[in-house]
Amino acid sequence: MSQTAHIDDTTKTARLEDIPGDEGMPFFGHTFWLLRDPEGFGNTMRERFGDTYRTNTFFKRSVNFFGADANQFVLMDKGHNFSSEKGWGRFLERLFPRGLMLLDFDEHKAHRHIMAAAFKTGPMKGYLERLNADMPARIAKWGKKESFHFYPAIKQLSLDMATTVFFGLEPGKQTEKVNKALTDMVSASIGLVRVPIPGTAMWAGVQGRKYMIQFLKDLIPSRRNSDASDLFTQLCKAEDENGNTFTDQEIIDHMIFLWMAAHDTITSSVTTMVYQLGKNPDWQEKLRNEISELGINDGTLPYALMNKLVLNEYAFKEALRMNPPVPGIPRETVREVEWQGHKIPVGTPIGISPTATHRDPAIWPEPNKFDPMRFSPEGGVKERHKFAWVPFGGGAHMCVGLHFAYMQAKVIMTHLLPNYEIVLADDYTTEFQVMPLMKPVDGLPVKLKAIK
Ligand code: HEM
Repeated sequence: MSQTAHIDDTTKTARLEDIPGDEGMPFFGHTFWLLRDPEGFGNTMRERFGDTYRTNTFFKRSVNFFGADANQFVLMDKGHNFSSEKGWGRFLERLFPRGLMLLDFDEHKAHRHIMAAAFKTGPMKGYLERLNADMPARIAKWGKKESFHFYPAIKQLSLDMATTVFFGLEPGKQTEKVNKALTDMVSASIGLVRVPIPGTAMWAGVQGRKYMIQFLKDLIPSRRNSDASDLFTQLCKAEDENGNTFTDQEIIDHMIFLWMAAHDTITSSVTTMVYQLGKNPDWQEKLRNEISELGINDGTLPYALMNKLVLNEYAFKEALRMNPPVPGIPRETVREVEWQGHKIPVGTPIGISPTATHRDPAIWPEPNKFDPMRFSPEGGVKERHKFAWVPFGGGAHMCVGLHFAYMQAKVIMTHLLPNYEIVLADDYTTEFQVMPLMKPVDGLPVKLKAIK
């Protein structure tokens, strides 16, 4: 790996024009090409310009790095060269300011330390209890339908789960308002219009944020004194080893961000998993057998048995490889850096691509084949580059909710697979839209055939 973090003062100042690439269309640059076909765009640019190339997207010139070494260089960020706040800020600053991913370096570390308290084993067991209690009735509802679209159904389930597990609320009128406010914020954050003009998604998003701030503010005093097991309460009480806690405003910013970070990502990854299990009935059967070998009679998954679902975990990891829900990870340079002989100026937006790395046939033979055994010791998991698989990022900003994501996916499978066979229409295939988040373009029509 060639890497020099800080450039010697005596060297020539870095210039973006010296990095291979082009400007794309007048004014919009490559933005529409990137949105329409991100994979094709990345492949073409790499063929033309190499693994480090300059693009012109979202009205800014950026530099993209490709490959596992590049992922490691950016995510581990040994030289504190890359700002996550500035990278993500372009997209999230207005609606999700001061979420964990929008903090950098020492301040980020301090906040992450406090937040870690809400993801320790004790609180995680509490979240699992809530998931186990609420999931069966919702999945049973799916089973009553002749056929349905899986993506909107799992999205609704994730929203409902977030309501109880994250906010500790019972479904009802108030939670509908909360869900609307939060989904309006997400829609606004991915829209092209970045100013809150009445009638635009950004306007609705800004109103949603105002609503959420007041809503959470009113609840904080009681949650600080509560023993409830939801994430909001845990965050209100979270404390690091030196007794540092979050202020009310910090709790609000983190809660709003956590909800956003969790719900679309789990929705997307479980959708890919269900699609692949529909296409690969042999794997469906293997996972079903593994669940039934746990011998849990009431259907609820105990925390102590979660690690026994080894094949289920491989299958989830393979789904995350094929369709990483976060297709690109942005940063911005806060000093000049050099990567593979290219000098990159301070203030340059940088992108790495989990999608491109995960579909690179040099690392993943037959990348379009669903093969969960890639994640087993015999499938070479130990020998592979540690940054060849980065659905959760890595380094200081590595996803804080990854164990939560595994847990929710396993709970869903524990309630779904022993009761239903996932059936897709003969010869059915679907396309996954990559940007801004991976999702099937047709919503994934499926049938659940009752087993018992
Ligand atoms: C399959 C599900 C998920 C995927 C694929 C995913 C993906 C990611 C990725 C790629 C990052 C790093 C971004 C970067 O380095 O810029 C990240 C960060 C984060 N994720 Fe997740 N995530 C998932 C689920 C969750 C869940 C369930 C939660 C909360 C319960 C969560 C909370 C967060 C937070 C707070 C961060 C910021 C961490 C930091 O900056 O220190 N995520 N996630």
